[in-house]
Amino acid sequence: MKKIEAIIRPHKLDEVQEALLEAGYAGLSVSEIRGYGRQKGHREIYRGAEYNINFVPKIKIELVCSDNQCDGAIEIIEKTARTGEVGDGKIFISTIDDAVRIRTGESGEEAI
Ligand SMILES: Nc1ncnc2c1ncn2[C@@H]1O[C@H](COP(=O)(O)OP(=O)(O)OP(=O)(O)O)[C@@H](O)[C@H]1O
Ligand SMILES: [Mg+2]
Repeated sequence: MKKIEAIIRPHKLDEVQEALLEAGYAGLSVSEIRGYGRQKGHREIYRGAEYNINFVPKIKIELVCSDNQCDGAIEIIEKTARTGEVGDGKIFISTIDDAVRIRTGESGEEAI
């Protein structure tokens, strides 16, 4: 299993979520976060306002899926979250050892 953590622009969340749902990915966690990338200290536009500060509002989505679903999810997120401007975000991929569905006690891929 893999965990995909994607930092995206807030206004791209709906589009990304819809595309993942349509492709059959079930389950998604979302958090409001703030961060910066390479342009630290430089200006970035968010909702028409220029941010001169270090931390710009972003959304983090977390998706755990089986190994063979991982590339498809990355492709969807990459395609739907891209504007081509600086600040489009990043996708981090890691390996998940195990998962448990609390209600049933199922574990591993059965649980996702
Ligand atoms: N190395 C990193 N570690 C953790 N979070 C990061 C990292 N790089 C970027 N982020 C997160 O992703 C958000 C968007 O980063 P951003 O897209 O600006 O990256 P970048 O490397 O500066 O690329 P670009 O040149 O396209 O802007 C940041 O606000 C931060 O929340
Ligand atoms: Mg940047």
